[in-house]
Amino acid sequence: MNVIIVKNDTQIGQKTGDLILNKVKANKSAVLGLATGSSPISTYKYIIEKTKAENIDWSNIKTFNLDEYKGLEPTHEHSYRFFMNDNLFNHINIDKNNTYVPSGAIKSNQEAGEYDKEIEKAGGIDLQLLGIGTNGHIGFNEPGTSFDSITSIVNLTDETIEMNSRFFANKSDVPTQAISMGLKSIMNAKEIVLIAMGKNKAEAIYHLVEGEVGTQWPCSILQNHSNVTIVVDEQAASLLKK
Ligand code: GLP
Repeated sequence: MNVIIVKNDTQIGQKTGDLILNKVKANKSAVLGLATGSSPISTYKYIIEKTKAENIDWSNIKTFNLDEYKGLEPTHEHSYRFFMNDNLFNHINIDKNNTYVPSGAIKSNQEAGEYDKEIEKAGGIDLQLLGIGTNGHIGFNEPGTSFDSITSIVNLTDETIEMNSRFFANKSDVPTQAISMGLKSIMNAKEIVLIAMGKNKAEAIYHLVEGEVGTQWPCSILQNHSNVTIVVDEQAASLLKK
């Protein structure tokens, strides 16, 4: 695992943004896995700036997002589809028909599993971007999730609902379920880049890099992948020993 420690959020955006843009420049029809949350915002900002400055072509790029809140419409301001349009897709020349986010209207795991088939049809994910929850979740794969999981309807833990309530008016407005790519879906990506910043991510980063591999810290599964880079600030890296 390649661990890159940087000074601040701006540098996380530059490092990670360059890793993604290098893929896009090298392969005009690359397939990217994308993430939401506060962590990737600086990356998306940097990508937008560079894309404009260098006229980078996204017209044949495909993207698959990790997850979506169950029950939220794409137009809902807290849906992940809305987030992606607002923070990235509306500002680059990507064809929205090539951007996939699980539908919040999915009602069964059979429907949810179709998402993995779409990814496979697209040729698989070349580079998957990830954030991380304070409890070590990736996507919305909470502690205890099977390492064999594919895209499905998942229950959010109270910790995650509490953490994500900062984006909503009230905690009671946060959906209690989501549709998330599974751990196996994520591990199928050819390359993975995970970003994290701040002290409250330090424990999860420790378990991801140096902890024992097990389902209690879903992020630890990444130790079993051969091409993972993590880009973290000093606070998020503060519990690493090696
Ligand atoms: C949500 C998302 C995760 C994300 C996590 C961390 O729970 N489903 O994919 O990694 O939040 O969010 P943040 O980057 O805001 O700390």
